[in-house]
Formats: sequence, C-alpha cells, structure tokens
Amino acid sequence: MCYAIPGKVIAVTNNIATVDYFGELRRAHVMDGIAQIGDYVYAQGGIVVEKISAADAIPVLEIWREQFFELKKVDARLSSTSTKGNNTIASLIAKAENGGNLNRNDMLAILSAENRTNLEMIYTAANRTRRNRLDNACCVHGIIEFSNHCLNDCLYCGIRAGNKVLKRYRMSSEEIIDAADHAIKLGFRSLVLQSGEDQYYTDAMLAAIVKEIHERHGVLLFVSIGERSKECYRKLYESGAYGALIRFETSNKNIYERMRPGKKLQARLNLIRWLKEIGFILATGFLISLPGQTQDDIINDILLTKSLKPDMYSFGPLIPHLQTPLATIEKPNLSYILKVIALSRLVDPDAKILATTALETLGPDAGAAGLLAGANSLMIDATPSKYRKLYDLYPGKTGTDESVEAMAEKTIKLLRSLGRAPTDLGVLL
Ligand code: 5AD
Repeated sequence: MCYAIPGKVIAVTNNIATVDYFGELRRAHVMDGIAQIGDYVYAQGGIVVEKISAADAIPVLEIWREQFFELKKVDARLSSTSTKGNNTIASLIAKAENGGNLNRNDMLAILSAENRTNLEMIYTAANRTRRNRLDNACCVHGIIEFSNHCLNDCLYCGIRAGNKVLKRYRMSSEEIIDAADHAIKLGFRSLVLQSGEDQYYTDAMLAAIVKEIHERHGVLLFVSIGERSKECYRKLYESGAYGALIRFETSNKNIYERMRPGKKLQARLNLIRWLKEIGFILATGFLISLPGQTQDDIINDILLTKSLKPDMYSFGPLIPHLQTPLATIEKPNLSYILKVIALSRLVDPDAKILATTALETLGPDAGAAGLLAGANSLMIDATPSKYRKLYDLYPGKTGTDESVEAMAEKTIKLLRSLGRAPTDLGVLL
C-alpha cells in the first residue's frame, strides 16, 4: 500500500511551494531546496519530504485520479448532515461557524452539553468546519516506540520509573532504523520516534539514527523524547527530524506538579515554545481527566494549545493503568473526548487535530467518531510487535497483536469509508 498522493509543484517563492493535487492547491515548505517548479513531490505536515520522478508519479496519479473526486463526494455527504436546533448550543455553533470567537462561557456551555441532539449538533458542526477549512485531507502517522525506559515518575503513566513490574526494552539503533525502513516501505510518509525519557541514548546516537533515516527516505520525522536539552533538539533538527511531539500535559500548574514529581510546567512550556521558535513542526496538547481537572482547566488547555500555534493538536483521554497511583480513577466517556475535539475545532478552525491512539481504546469506532467530530489525522503503532505490548503507557492499546500491515490496511479502509484522502494537510490556497 502507499497511502499518499503525490502533488506537482507549480510555484516556489521563498522556499514555499504551491503544490497541485488534481487542481487543489496547498502550500508546503521546501527544505534544503529539494524541489522546483514542475517537480512531483510528496508533502507531509506542510513540508515537501520527497521529490519523485514523473515516471514514478504519473502512474500513481492515474490510480488516484478517479478516487480523489469520489472521496470528496463521500466526505461532502458525511459532513453535510446538519442537525438543526434552536437552543443555546445551536446559536453558539452558528456564532463559531460565522467566524465569531467563542468566549469562555460559550466554551463551557459546549463542554457541558449532554443530550444526544446537542452532541450531534456539536460534532457535525465541527466536522463541517474541518471540511470547509481543510477539505478531506488526512495524515496517517506511524509511531515507533523505541524504548520504554523512563527516568520520570509521572503518576498517570504506565512506563513510570516506579513501575517495577514492567519488563523494560531498548531498541538498538539498527532496530530503530529497520523499523523505520519497514514502515516507510508500507507507505508511511510521517513517522514519530518516541520513547520514555531515556538518557541511554546520547544526543549523538539519536542524531545518527535520525540522520540515517532522513538520508534513506523522504519522510517527515518527529521526535517524541520528552525534555531533552536544547542542544539535543537542535542536533536532531539539523539531522533531519523537523517535527517534535511534546505535550504540556495540563495547563494547571498545581495538577502538573502533582502529576509529574520534580517537574515544572514553566520549564516544559519554555521548551515547547522554543522548539516552535527554532522551526520545529510542533505537535502538542494535553491529557483529559487528570484527577482534580475541571472543565475550566480543559478550556485553559484548549486555549493554551491554540496560543502555542501548534502544527498539530495531540490530546487524549487519560486511561488508568493498574501499576500506577491512578489505577482506580475513572476513564472519561467517549462523548466527552469527542466534545473536546469538536470544541478545539470550533475554537481553532484551521487546526490539524489528531485522533489519538488512546482515544481509540474507548471503543471499536472511537477513531472514526473522532474523525467525524473534527479530527483529521491518525496515528498507527508501527513498533515491532515483540516490543509493542511493552510500551505500556496505558492498558487496552488497540492492535497490540496485529501486524503493522494489518493495522495500516484497516486504517486505509476506514479513511476510504469516511472519504478522507492522503493529500498533505498543508494550508489550502
Ligand atoms: N493514558 C493516556 N495517555 C497517557 N500518556 C501517558 N500515560 C498515559 C495514560 N495512562 C501520554 C502522555 C504523554 C504521552 C507520550 O502519552 O500525555 O505525553
């Protein structure tokens, strides 16, 4: 499978390319001058990741030509179902859809909505907004979880240092590069390299892994390795990891400091802001249903995420893990998470919002429900299966027994059924 559509570069100004996908124009950064007018390229996350020859691109485009327009029709049908109402929720939705700013009270009303009709109204409005702003583009990211060692002791996390029951693993540099090769062969064009905070991997080791993958493949590489030094991140960027996935976890300082012993929210936010400043494609967000977290906190979380101007929102439910101090807390409802997705979309209409793997544990159709409530990206676990179960952040991870191929096939089927296409998510022109 190759679930990516090549586009044709029709203009380049100041290293920004205009990429044409069957008449749909999107913007993408050209790094290292790899593409010029007339070139066929793959773009991911608003970055041109690979130039391909016309001989390679044209047959792929032929396969996509018909499907491309069919998918748009499916998406248009699914996102035109408008549930009407004439209550407060309906008027707030109208306000958001007409370009108005939702204030905190408006946001609170949406987060507190309960009955079925109101919920449907909120989800469908967010889905319409997603389509109006970003069309049916969808990005599928693969994640390779390369080490479950972690020096932190976060109360919510299954791989916390204090979990003495968990069998620990570290993938060697060769294993990580092989896993990336495999994922890219399967068609992934965006990969996240994630681990616990593990100093075993020196800056030089990480940089060498990134450099090797970057040199071998046209792929957008994210690192998700927690609070490493600025020098480390700078080296990784220079080696070709242009993306960083790092959540701030919660905007509530007290909760943050309780949940992450010895850690400071301000330090995390400083790092996140700096990563964005130096040019990283930033994915960030928060956990939902931390103990003591209120709806006001969630509103702050959404507003903080928006203010960080991330290239991707990544937030999800906290799933209680038995070997953590939060073993007995309650899992959030799927409908609550969907409301947070929808509200984020209404508050930040152009956002790229990930339907996370933790969300998918909330039900067999939770990923699809997320995509129909305003999300537009998915993450698939591309960790070698012998390690996958050991990357035990939370229980019930979907697909822990399946091959990456099988999960990717399933995801493609799902995206087709929802009318989503793998054009790049870059800004529509
Ligand atoms: N449930 C859901 N998400 C979790 N994470 C850590 N533990 C859990 C859990 N129990 C998330 C954190 C972290 C990311 C890598 O995984 O938000 O940033």
